[in-house]
Amino acid sequence: MRTQVAIIGGGPSGLLLSQLLNRAGIATVVLERKSRDYVLGRIRAGVLETGLVNLLREAGAGARMDREGHLHDGCHLAQNGRMFRVDFREACGKQVMVYGQTEVTRDLYDAQDAMGATVIHEAEDVALHDLTGSPYVTWRDAAGEHRLDCDFVAGCDGFHGISRQAIPASVRTEFEKVYPFGWLGILSRTPPVEDELIYAAHDRGFALASMRNPALSRYYIQVPLTDRVEDWSDEAFWAEFRARMPEDVAARLVTGPSIEKSIAPLRSFVTEPMRWGKLFLCGDAAHIVPPTGAKGLNLAASDVHYLLEGLVAHYRGDGRGIDAYSQRALARIWQAMRFSWSLTTMMHRFPGASDYERRMQDSELALLERSATARQLLAENYTGLPY
Ligand code: APR
Ligand code: PHB
Repeated sequence: MRTQVAIIGGGPSGLLLSQLLNRAGIATVVLERKSRDYVLGRIRAGVLETGLVNLLREAGAGARMDREGHLHDGCHLAQNGRMFRVDFREACGKQVMVYGQTEVTRDLYDAQDAMGATVIHEAEDVALHDLTGSPYVTWRDAAGEHRLDCDFVAGCDGFHGISRQAIPASVRTEFEKVYPFGWLGILSRTPPVEDELIYAAHDRGFALASMRNPALSRYYIQVPLTDRVEDWSDEAFWAEFRARMPEDVAARLVTGPSIEKSIAPLRSFVTEPMRWGKLFLCGDAAHIVPPTGAKGLNLAASDVHYLLEGLVAHYRGDGRGIDAYSQRALARIWQAMRFSWSLTTMMHRFPGASDYERRMQDSELALLERSATARQLLAENYTGLPY
């Protein structure tokens, strides 16, 4: 087999890149380790920046998002029971689209099917070869061993994939910060407690009220890293969530049985560079953000945007785009890293934090409540910096 771009990973990054490259006339093959059902069974965040919304429309995968997604003009910040709003439209003239990542991935799979794109599932032991020469990929499945020769490899295989490790350790620099807490999240078939998201800082810990649609709510509470999901009954979750939200919000909360419940750790991670020979890293393969700023999927989108531009230019005879890919992508990645780290630091209770550090958190929130300039800076980052 031969193709122009071999894509490792059939998550949002790999599928979006495949869809956009094929629409540009560039042939791809996607190699995904898991089944499609498994990939579509993952519950992930659901706040889309304008850049990603536009890319999905450009990819021909935005119709259901435009029908079923919800545009939000702002969000709420709460602190020990007091709440104020950040108006994105007023601050920076932009909005975000609330639409689950699972639905984005489903729409991308449907668009890939409609295009007749090649997505190979349950590809085992994927390996990358001769990345600085004539690259090829090998894998195994029920039919046996396979080899795919290609011009380029896009490593879209997430944090636990193999692509990042294909860059020699002597070339790679990894930056990491692990946060001393996790997020316990639940999904419930209940009407969201508020029309827009509520990020709540509280002495008991952080809490977030989000949603998927008017009948499906997504809620989170900060928990110690030692907690296990079986430690938390639905009743215990609802009681703790109510305790961290403003009284009027807690009073109108509609609770119900969780249809999904899990604990996720929080980390900030970046690997540099994002290119090695004919290999380009994209999405979670290259970086991880704490979910606080809802940047994970949106950073994958800007990586795809830069890589698409570079590859299209290359096949038209201009190699500058792929040469600049890593630098361009990392410039935006580090800005999103800063924002996600800043919001996480401001809103969570850190074990062992000094009284002074607690006062700094209070002061950061007080500054946001008082200053339109501070809210503008938050709104610009939350709705997505330009590509
Ligand atoms: N071979 C083939 N596929 C692999 C391999 C491998 N060795 N390792 C991982 N994969 C697949 C995974 O099964 C997964 O479907 O690569 C895909 C990577 O998808 P994601 O982890 O979702 O990463 P990405 O596509 O970059 O999307 C980033 O997903 O994890 C969230 O918060 C993150 O919202 C962000 C988004
Ligand atoms: C979600 O809806 O899952 C979500 C929303 C915003 C975040 C994180 C998660 O910052």
